Amino acid sequence: MSENIFRRDFPIFQGNNTVYFDNAATTQRPVQVLEAMKQFNDTTNANPLRGLYKWSMEATEAYENARHAAAEFIGAEKDCEIIFTRNTTESLNLVAYSYGLSHVKAGDEIVLTVMEHHSNILPWQMVARQTGAKLVYMEPQPDGTITDEEIESKITDKAAIVTVAEVSNVLGVTNPVKKIAEAAHRHGAVCVVDGAQSTPHMPVNVQEIGCDFFAFSGHKLMGPMGIGVLYGKIDLLDDMPPFLTGGEMIEYVTRESATFAEVPEKFEAGTVNAMGAVGLSAAITYLKNVGFDTVMKTEKDLTTRLMDGLSRIPEVTVYGSKDPARHCGIVTFNIEGCHPHDVASVLDTENICVRAGHHCAQPLMKWLGVNATARASLYFYNTEEEVDRFVDAVGKVRGWLGY
Ligand code: ALA
Repeated sequence: MSENIFRRDFPIFQGNNTVYFDNAATTQRPVQVLEAMKQFNDTTNANPLRGLYKWSMEATEAYENARHAAAEFIGAEKDCEIIFTRNTTESLNLVAYSYGLSHVKAGDEIVLTVMEHHSNILPWQMVARQTGAKLVYMEPQPDGTITDEEIESKITDKAAIVTVAEVSNVLGVTNPVKKIAEAAHRHGAVCVVDGAQSTPHMPVNVQEIGCDFFAFSGHKLMGPMGIGVLYGKIDLLDDMPPFLTGGEMIEYVTRESATFAEVPEKFEAGTVNAMGAVGLSAAITYLKNVGFDTVMKTEKDLTTRLMDGLSRIPEVTVYGSKDPARHCGIVTFNIEGCHPHDVASVLDTENICVRAGHHCAQPLMKWLGVNATARASLYFYNTEEEVDRFVDAVGKVRGWLGY
């Protein structure tokens, strides 16, 4: 079996035989990311944007360089269209609270899909509750496809917001975000894309998609936890009220009122996560050096091997498309008669990490007709040997549970 040359960069993989197949939840970090953060800590650390001394100015520069790296990574036209947040959840909440509450009116529709993560459902439920708008769900075909007919029938002139995950965290399917953005604009709505599961695995260009907002997390693409990105078109961001208020996001404050700083500072209240941004930037550099051709080919080959293996176990049901190329490395499954939590616990005794539960996608679980599933999610640093160990262990789970 071929060696995976990237594994040596990841301290966590050294000296153990753990199979880490929970990459849709979070990815592992290479030494290059840790070193970049250590370098910032050891040579540059100070509060960015405030100090008029060398370390603070260098910290500001490092933070703004990270913003540039993030802008370039997703094809934003301007660096100021990148707002650093804690994660995708916070990015989506920012859009909902700031843009949603100030633009959506009673009778409007917020169109989303049944496969959204809770972080792209609950903020819109809040907007609907507070404004009197209605949530409208696009339903996929059994293989996860959102058809053109579904897009055209659900996105109408009533739509104010259309929001969709580019890749489902359960089915792994890639949604037609470009078509959805085009339909949203044709009907006068804005389009929000949740890119948490796409940005680590495929090239993304927000201008090509044509979306108005795009959110992703650093920790799902080998960066640190606690740093995320919201992209927004500058005209929309300029027009939006702040989400959080406080230090560094103001222009002038009196006892009674305040005027706000320009975008992006308007949306980055308080001390920013500069070290996290530096780590994210290093992760982007690492990912670019690996190359999306390698990422996508490795994941497709491994997913094919994994799904072939599972297809030989009669008691296993895999959800979504039968085509491994449409899974973005995510394989969600159940074993007849076994609770997914038991499956994950038994696999853990073999040092195999998978996620089990509803995956923060309960409307999709209901649509699938299950309460929970197990999920294996791969990344380019996984190996054929790991896939074979996983398939072998899944084949034995029923026996280990006493069936
Ligand atoms: N959103 C992450 C997942 O799907 C946590 O596992």
